Amino acid sequence: MPVIEIAGLRKRYGKIEALRGVDFSVEKGAIYGLVGPNGAGKSTLIKALVGSLCPNAGTIRVFNLDPIHDRWSLRKRIGYMPQSAALYEDLSARENIAFFGRAHHTLQLNKKLDEILDFTELRDRANDPVHTFSGGMKKRVSLACALIHDPEMLLLDEPTAAVDPHLKARSWDFFREMAGRGMTLFISTHLMDEALLCDSVAILRRGQMIAVDTPQHILQRGKTRVVVQQGTQKQTTQIASTPEALANHLHQYGLSPDVQAVALQQDSLESIILSLVNKQEEKL
Ligand SMILES: Nc1ncnc2c1ncn2[C@@H]1O[C@H](COP(=O)(O)OP(=O)(O)O)[C@@H](O)[C@H]1O
Ligand SMILES: [Mg+2]
Repeated sequence: MPVIEIAGLRKRYGKIEALRGVDFSVEKGAIYGLVGPNGAGKSTLIKALVGSLCPNAGTIRVFNLDPIHDRWSLRKRIGYMPQSAALYEDLSARENIAFFGRAHHTLQLNKKLDEILDFTELRDRANDPVHTFSGGMKKRVSLACALIHDPEMLLLDEPTAAVDPHLKARSWDFFREMAGRGMTLFISTHLMDEALLCDSVAILRRGQMIAVDTPQHILQRGKTRVVVQQGTQKQTTQIASTPEALANHLHQYGLSPDVQAVALQQDSLESIILSLVNKQEEKL
Protein backbone atom coordinates (compact mmCIF):
# COMPACT_ATOMS: atom_id res chain seq x y z
CA MET A 1 0.00 0.00 0.00
CA PRO A 2 1.49 3.39 -0.98
CA VAL A 3 2.35 5.88 1.80
CA ILE A 4 1.29 8.84 -0.37
CA GLU A 5 -1.62 8.75 -2.82
CA ILE A 6 -2.73 11.81 -4.76
CA ALA A 7 -5.48 11.93 -7.38
CA GLY A 8 -6.68 14.86 -9.46
CA LEU A 9 -5.06 17.42 -7.16
CA ARG A 10 -5.70 21.06 -8.05
CA LYS A 11 -4.76 24.26 -6.29
CA ARG A 12 -5.24 27.79 -7.47
CA TYR A 13 -4.13 31.09 -5.98
CA GLY A 14 -6.47 33.64 -7.53
CA LYS A 15 -5.80 33.43 -11.26
CA ILE A 16 -2.70 31.26 -10.92
CA GLU A 17 -3.30 27.54 -11.16
CA ALA A 18 -0.33 26.15 -9.22
CA LEU A 19 -1.40 22.48 -9.42
CA ARG A 20 -3.36 21.37 -12.47
CA GLY A 21 -4.52 17.82 -11.79
CA VAL A 22 -1.70 15.88 -10.17
CA ASP A 23 -1.90 12.08 -9.85
CA PHE A 24 0.93 10.45 -7.99
CA SER A 25 1.81 7.76 -5.47
CA VAL A 26 4.84 7.01 -3.31
CA GLU A 27 5.91 3.65 -1.86
CA LYS A 28 7.45 3.28 1.58
CA GLY A 29 11.16 3.52 2.33
CA ALA A 30 12.88 5.33 -0.50
CA ILE A 31 14.12 8.74 -1.56
CA TYR A 32 11.66 10.43 -3.89
CA GLY A 33 12.87 13.52 -5.68
CA LEU A 34 10.31 16.12 -6.69
CA VAL A 35 12.16 17.91 -9.46
CA GLY A 36 11.04 20.96 -11.36
CA PRO A 37 11.95 24.53 -12.25
CA ASN A 38 11.03 27.43 -9.97
CA GLY A 39 7.30 28.06 -9.98
CA ALA A 40 6.48 24.47 -11.04
CA GLY A 41 4.32 23.92 -7.93
CA LYS A 42 6.71 21.89 -5.75
CA SER A 43 6.14 23.87 -2.54
CA THR A 44 2.39 23.93 -3.15
CA LEU A 45 2.36 20.14 -3.54
CA ILE A 46 4.39 19.60 -0.35
CA LYS A 47 2.19 22.04 1.61
CA ALA A 48 -0.88 20.13 0.44
CA LEU A 49 0.73 16.86 1.61
CA VAL A 50 1.41 18.19 5.12
CA GLY A 51 -2.04 19.80 5.43
CA SER A 52 -0.86 23.38 5.53
CA LEU A 53 -3.02 24.37 2.57
CA CYS A 54 -6.41 23.28 1.35
CA PRO A 55 -6.61 22.05 -2.26
CA ASN A 56 -9.42 23.16 -4.62
CA ALA A 57 -10.00 19.66 -5.95
CA GLY A 58 -8.70 16.11 -5.76
CA THR A 59 -7.88 13.68 -2.98
CA ILE A 60 -4.75 13.20 -0.89
CA ARG A 61 -3.99 10.31 1.44
CA VAL A 62 -0.77 10.21 3.44
CA PHE A 63 -0.47 7.03 5.53
CA ASN A 64 -4.10 6.65 4.53
CA LEU A 65 -4.94 9.84 6.46
CA ASP A 66 -6.44 13.05 5.11
CA PRO A 67 -3.87 15.85 5.64
CA ILE A 68 -6.56 18.41 6.56
CA HIS A 69 -9.03 16.35 8.61
CA ASP A 70 -6.46 14.11 10.29
CA ARG A 71 -3.85 16.85 10.53
CA TRP A 72 -2.65 16.15 14.07
CA SER A 73 -2.46 12.37 13.73
CA LEU A 74 -0.52 12.91 10.52
CA ARG A 75 1.86 15.53 11.92
CA LYS A 76 3.05 12.98 14.54
CA ARG A 77 4.16 10.65 11.78
CA ILE A 78 5.79 13.10 9.39
CA GLY A 79 8.57 15.67 9.57
CA TYR A 80 8.30 18.76 7.37
CA MET A 81 11.11 21.13 6.54
CA PRO A 82 9.69 24.22 4.79
CA GLN A 83 11.56 25.99 1.99
CA SER A 84 12.35 28.96 4.23
CA ALA A 85 13.34 27.91 7.74
CA ALA A 86 10.69 28.85 10.32
CA LEU A 87 12.93 29.25 13.38
CA TYR A 88 12.92 31.48 16.47
CA GLU A 89 15.99 33.58 15.75
CA ASP A 90 16.54 34.68 19.36
CA LEU A 91 16.43 31.15 20.72
CA SER A 92 19.34 28.72 20.60
CA ALA A 93 19.46 25.76 18.22
CA ARG A 94 18.72 23.43 21.14
CA GLU A 95 15.73 25.52 22.29
CA ASN A 96 14.30 25.64 18.76
CA ILE A 97 14.54 21.87 18.38
CA ALA A 98 13.18 21.30 21.93
CA PHE A 99 10.16 23.47 21.05
CA PHE A 100 9.21 21.06 18.25
CA GLY A 101 10.02 18.08 20.48
CA ARG A 102 7.65 19.28 23.20
CA ALA A 103 4.92 20.05 20.66
CA HIS A 104 5.09 16.37 19.66
CA HIS A 105 5.38 15.12 23.28
CA THR A 106 8.71 13.48 22.43
CA LEU A 107 9.76 11.02 25.14
CA GLN A 108 13.24 11.32 26.69
CA LEU A 109 13.59 14.71 25.04
CA ASN A 110 17.05 15.57 26.40
CA LYS A 111 18.56 12.32 25.18
CA LYS A 112 16.90 12.78 21.78
CA LEU A 113 18.19 16.36 21.60
CA ASP A 114 21.77 15.22 22.19
CA GLU A 115 21.43 12.55 19.51
CA ILE A 116 19.95 14.88 16.94
CA LEU A 117 22.49 17.66 17.64
CA ASP A 118 25.26 15.11 17.04
CA PHE A 119 23.60 13.76 13.91
CA THR A 120 23.24 17.23 12.37
CA GLU A 121 26.71 18.26 13.62
CA LEU A 122 25.34 21.15 15.65
CA ARG A 123 26.61 20.13 19.07
CA ASP A 124 29.33 22.81 19.29
CA ARG A 125 26.90 25.63 18.58
CA ALA A 126 23.84 24.13 20.26
CA ASN A 127 23.46 26.93 22.82
CA ASP A 128 24.08 29.89 20.51
CA PRO A 129 21.15 31.95 19.24
CA VAL A 130 20.09 30.98 15.74
CA HIS A 131 20.47 34.54 14.39
CA THR A 132 24.25 34.07 14.66
CA PHE A 133 24.13 31.02 12.33
CA SER A 134 25.01 30.77 8.63
CA GLY A 135 22.32 29.80 6.11
CA GLY A 136 23.60 26.22 5.98
CA MET A 137 23.53 25.87 9.77
CA LYS A 138 19.95 27.17 9.88
CA LYS A 139 19.01 24.51 7.33
CA ARG A 140 20.49 21.89 9.68
CA VAL A 141 18.55 23.27 12.66
CA SER A 142 15.42 23.18 10.51
CA LEU A 143 16.19 19.55 9.56
CA ALA A 144 16.73 18.68 13.24
CA CYS A 145 13.32 20.25 14.08
CA ALA A 146 11.72 18.02 11.44
CA LEU A 147 13.47 14.92 12.83
CA ILE A 148 13.13 15.29 16.61
CA HIS A 149 9.97 13.17 16.93
CA ASP A 150 11.31 10.24 14.86
CA PRO A 151 8.90 10.62 11.95
CA GLU A 152 8.27 7.78 9.50
CA MET A 153 8.36 10.18 6.58
CA LEU A 154 10.31 13.37 5.90
CA LEU A 155 9.13 16.02 3.45
CA LEU A 156 11.96 18.42 2.67
CA ASP A 157 11.33 21.49 0.52
CA GLU A 158 14.55 22.45 -1.29
CA PRO A 159 16.81 21.44 1.61
CA THR A 160 19.99 21.98 -0.40
CA ALA A 161 19.13 25.18 -2.30
CA ALA A 162 21.83 27.82 -1.72
CA VAL A 163 24.01 25.60 0.45
CA ASP A 164 27.69 25.10 -0.31
CA PRO A 165 28.81 21.96 -2.20
CA HIS A 166 30.33 20.37 0.92
CA LEU A 167 27.14 20.69 2.94
CA LYS A 168 25.10 19.59 -0.06
CA ALA A 169 27.07 16.35 -0.27
CA ARG A 170 26.87 15.92 3.51
CA SER A 171 23.08 16.48 3.40
CA TRP A 172 22.66 13.72 0.83
CA ASP A 173 24.71 11.41 3.09
CA PHE A 174 22.20 12.27 5.87
CA PHE A 175 19.25 11.55 3.59
CA ARG A 176 20.70 8.18 2.55
CA GLU A 177 21.33 7.28 6.16
CA MET A 178 17.74 8.13 7.09
CA ALA A 179 16.34 6.17 4.14
CA GLY A 180 18.53 3.28 5.33
CA ARG A 181 16.68 3.46 8.67
CA GLY A 182 13.44 2.77 6.78
CA MET A 183 12.24 6.35 6.49
CA THR A 184 10.50 7.61 3.34
CA LEU A 185 11.99 10.88 2.10
CA PHE A 186 10.21 13.24 -0.26
CA ILE A 187 12.66 15.92 -1.33
CA SER A 188 11.96 18.81 -3.68
CA THR A 189 14.73 20.43 -5.68
CA HIS A 190 15.10 22.74 -8.66
CA LEU A 191 18.64 21.35 -9.11
CA MET A 192 18.24 18.77 -11.87
CA ASP A 193 21.57 17.10 -11.07
CA GLU A 194 20.23 16.04 -7.67
CA ALA A 195 17.73 13.77 -9.42
CA LEU A 196 20.53 11.25 -9.85
CA LEU A 197 20.78 10.89 -6.07
CA CYS A 198 17.14 9.79 -5.66
CA ASP A 199 15.64 6.30 -5.95
CA SER A 200 12.73 7.69 -7.91
CA VAL A 201 12.16 11.02 -9.61
CA ALA A 202 8.91 12.89 -10.19
CA ILE A 203 9.20 15.75 -12.65
CA LEU A 204 6.75 18.58 -12.12
CA ARG A 205 6.26 21.45 -14.50
CA ARG A 206 3.59 24.11 -14.47
CA GLY A 207 1.52 22.18 -11.95
CA GLN A 208 1.56 18.90 -13.84
CA MET A 209 3.52 15.71 -13.31
CA ILE A 210 5.23 15.03 -16.62
CA ALA A 211 7.25 11.93 -15.65
CA VAL A 212 7.76 9.60 -12.71
CA ASP A 213 10.61 7.16 -13.09
CA THR A 214 13.94 5.93 -11.75
CA PRO A 215 17.00 8.05 -12.65
CA GLN A 216 18.32 5.03 -14.63
CA HIS A 217 15.20 4.89 -16.79
CA ILE A 218 15.26 8.65 -17.30
CA LEU A 219 18.89 8.36 -18.41
CA GLN A 220 17.77 5.77 -20.95
CA ARG A 221 15.43 8.32 -22.50
CA GLY A 222 18.52 10.22 -23.60
CA LYS A 223 20.84 9.36 -26.45
CA THR A 224 24.35 8.00 -26.40
CA ARG A 225 26.86 8.97 -29.02
CA VAL A 226 29.47 6.32 -29.84
CA VAL A 227 32.69 7.63 -31.32
CA VAL A 228 34.77 4.91 -32.99
CA GLN A 229 38.23 5.68 -34.29
CA GLN A 230 39.31 3.30 -37.05
CA GLY A 231 42.69 4.16 -38.56
CA THR A 232 42.50 7.89 -39.19
CA GLN A 233 38.70 7.83 -39.50
CA LYS A 234 36.49 8.92 -36.64
CA GLN A 235 32.83 7.95 -36.84
CA THR A 236 30.14 9.23 -34.49
CA THR A 237 26.81 7.40 -34.28
CA GLN A 238 23.86 8.18 -32.09
CA ILE A 239 22.26 5.15 -30.43
CA ALA A 240 19.74 4.45 -27.66
CA SER A 241 21.18 4.64 -24.12
CA THR A 242 20.90 0.94 -23.29
CA PRO A 243 23.70 -1.61 -22.82
CA GLU A 244 22.06 -3.76 -25.55
CA ALA A 245 22.11 -0.93 -28.09
CA LEU A 246 25.78 -0.36 -27.37
CA ALA A 247 26.64 -4.07 -27.75
CA ASN A 248 24.70 -4.26 -31.05
CA HIS A 249 26.44 -1.21 -32.36
CA LEU A 250 29.91 -2.50 -31.51
CA HIS A 251 29.22 -5.99 -32.97
CA GLN A 252 29.53 -4.56 -36.47
CA TYR A 253 33.17 -3.73 -35.82
CA GLY A 254 34.10 -7.21 -34.57
CA LEU A 255 37.49 -6.97 -32.95
CA SER A 256 39.20 -5.33 -35.86
CA PRO A 257 42.75 -4.22 -35.00
CA ASP A 258 41.84 -1.04 -36.93
CA VAL A 259 39.62 0.00 -34.07
CA GLN A 260 41.93 2.18 -32.04
CA ALA A 261 39.54 3.84 -29.64
CA VAL A 262 35.89 3.79 -28.66
CA ALA A 263 34.41 6.65 -26.66
CA LEU A 264 30.90 7.19 -25.30
CA GLN A 265 29.21 10.53 -24.94
CA GLN A 266 25.97 10.31 -22.96
CA ASP A 267 23.30 12.93 -22.42
CA SER A 268 23.39 14.01 -18.77
CA LEU A 269 20.35 13.47 -16.56
CA GLU A 270 20.17 17.23 -16.19
CA SER A 271 19.96 17.80 -19.95
CA ILE A 272 17.38 15.01 -20.41
CA ILE A 273 15.13 16.48 -17.69
CA LEU A 274 15.52 19.96 -19.12
CA SER A 275 14.58 18.72 -22.59
CA LEU A 276 11.54 16.89 -21.12
CA VAL A 277 10.49 20.12 -19.41
CA ASN A 278 11.05 22.15 -22.58
CA LYS A 279 9.33 19.63 -24.85
CA GLN A 280 6.15 19.97 -22.80
CA GLU A 281 6.54 23.75 -23.05
CA GLU A 282 6.45 23.61 -26.88
CA LYS A 283 3.17 21.68 -26.83
CA LEU A 284 1.35 24.45 -24.98
N1 LIG B 1 0.62 32.28 -1.73
C1 LIG B 1 0.62 32.43 -3.05
N2 LIG B 1 -0.15 33.36 -3.67
C2 LIG B 1 -0.16 33.50 -5.01
N3 LIG B 1 0.57 32.74 -5.85
C3 LIG B 1 1.35 31.79 -5.31
C4 LIG B 1 1.43 31.59 -3.89
N4 LIG B 1 2.30 30.58 -3.65
C5 LIG B 1 2.74 30.17 -4.86
N5 LIG B 1 2.18 30.90 -5.86
C6 LIG B 1 2.39 30.71 -7.31
O1 LIG B 1 2.08 29.35 -7.62
C7 LIG B 1 3.02 28.81 -8.54
C8 LIG B 1 3.73 27.61 -7.91
O2 LIG B 1 4.51 28.07 -6.82
P1 LIG B 1 5.36 27.11 -5.89
O3 LIG B 1 4.50 25.99 -5.43
O4 LIG B 1 5.99 27.95 -4.83
O5 LIG B 1 6.45 26.55 -6.92
P2 LIG B 1 7.93 25.97 -6.65
O6 LIG B 1 8.01 25.58 -5.21
O7 LIG B 1 8.06 24.81 -7.60
O8 LIG B 1 8.89 27.06 -7.01
C9 LIG B 1 3.95 29.97 -8.89
O9 LIG B 1 3.45 30.56 -10.07
C10 LIG B 1 3.84 30.90 -7.71
O10 LIG B 1 4.10 32.23 -8.09
MG1 LIG C 1 9.28 26.12 -3.75
